[in-house]
Amino acid sequence: MRACIERKREGGDLSPEEWTRIVAGLMDGRVDEAQFAALCMACVWRGMSFDEAFAMTRAMVESGDQLSFDRQEGVVVDKHSSGGVSDIVSLAAVPLAAACGARVAKLSGRALGHTGGTIDKLETIPGLRTALSTEEFAEQVRNTGCAIAAQSATIVPADKRIYALRDRTGTVPALGLISSSIVSKKIAGGAHAFVFDVKTGPAAFMQEPEKAKELGRWLLEIAARFGRRATAFVTDMSEPLGRCIGTGVEVVEAREMLQGNGDPRAVQLVTAIAAALVNECGFDEPEALVMRALSSGSGFEKFREMIAAQGGDVSAFENMQLGESIAVRARSGGYVSSIDVVRLGHAGRRLSTHDPLGGLRVDVRIGDYVETGTPLLHAYGRDRDHAAQFADAFTLSESKPAPVPLIYDVQINSVLYPQSGRAAAL
Ligand code: URA
Repeated sequence: MRACIERKREGGDLSPEEWTRIVAGLMDGRVDEAQFAALCMACVWRGMSFDEAFAMTRAMVESGDQLSFDRQEGVVVDKHSSGGVSDIVSLAAVPLAAACGARVAKLSGRALGHTGGTIDKLETIPGLRTALSTEEFAEQVRNTGCAIAAQSATIVPADKRIYALRDRTGTVPALGLISSSIVSKKIAGGAHAFVFDVKTGPAAFMQEPEKAKELGRWLLEIAARFGRRATAFVTDMSEPLGRCIGTGVEVVEAREMLQGNGDPRAVQLVTAIAAALVNECGFDEPEALVMRALSSGSGFEKFREMIAAQGGDVSAFENMQLGESIAVRARSGGYVSSIDVVRLGHAGRRLSTHDPLGGLRVDVRIGDYVETGTPLLHAYGRDRDHAAQFADAFTLSESKPAPVPLIYDVQINSVLYPQSGRAAAL
C-alpha cells in the first residue's frame, strides 16, 4: 500500500488490480484509514486517470450487494444529484416521469454538509418508509412505476466508509473520487439507465461550469463502460433551486408544484429532468408527455400513489402546511447580486432538525430589486427567532447582475447508444 501511495504522490497511475486490492483492503482491515486518506489526498493533488476512476468504481460496486431489474419488463431508470439546496427535483420529477409511463427506481441519500437529502425530506411524511427491502423496492417499481428508497447499508458499503473519510480529510473534491462514488451507487442499484444532475456554482462541489461538464462526461463514460445509458445535466447552484429549504417544507413545495403552483425556475429543471427520465425509458416526445402529466394532475396523483405504497399517510401529506413564520427583511435597497447558498443550506438543515416543518422560504431571486424592508426570506419552525442574521446571506448592489443560466449543459452517452432514448434504439 505504501508503494501505491508513493506512486500516486509522484503522479503515477495505479492498475485496476491495485484499485481492487486497495478498496477490498479498506473493507477487510488490511488497509488502514490513514493510508487510504493519504491516497485520497494524493488523488486530489495529482488527479486520477479515467481508467483508474473506472477501476475504483468497479471495486466499489463489488464491495456489496447489487440489485437487478428484469430488462424484459422495460427499462428502469434512476437519477442522481451531486448535491443541492432546495433541490426538490427528485421529489417532483420521479412521480412526474412515472405518470408518463417511465419506471423509476430511485435510490437516495441523506443530507450531507449544506445539501439536503431526499430521504430526510420524505421521512417527514407520517408513516412513510424509505428502508425498503430489495423485493419491496422492485415490486413497488413494477406496480406503481416508481419508488424512492434509502440506499441500504449493503449497497456499496465501501462508499459509506470512503465518503465519510473524504469528508473528514478534505478530500471530497476530486473528479475521479466523485465519479466513482456516484456511479458505483447507481450501478449497484440495478437500473438500466441514469440521469445525472451535476450542480455548479458557489454551493456545488464543482464550482466552475467547465469542471462540472467534465464531471458529467466522466459519469457518462463510466456508465457507458458498464453498458448503461445515461444523460448528464449541468445545472446552476448559485441560488437555491426552489424556494423552500429544509425537509418537510420542501415536500410541501414539491406537492404544490405538482398541483400546478410551482416556482418557474424550479419547474423548468424538474420538467427537463423528468423528460430525460422518460426519454431514457424510450418514450417519444418526452417533454410533451411531462407537461401533460403536470397540467393534468396525473403527476400529483402518482406522488400520492407512491407515498401510499411506501406506507405514508396521504391525508397527513396533503395537510402538511408551513406554519407561523418570521420575515427577515432587507436592511437597505438594491439588486440581489448574490446569495450565500451554503449558509442558507446549513440554516435550513438546522431549523428542520427538531421540527419537520422548520426551515426557510426564500422570497427573492438573484437579479430582483428590493427596497429597504422587503422580506428576503421567511423562517419557520421552533427556532425561527434566530433567523434575523440571515439577512447577511444576501448581497445587494446598485447594478443589476447578469442573469445566470439554469441549465448549462445536457449530454447523453451516445458512445453506446447513438440514438439514446428513442424507442427504436431499445
Ligand atoms: N455525491 C456523491 O455521491 N459522492 C461524492 O463523492 C460527491 C457527491
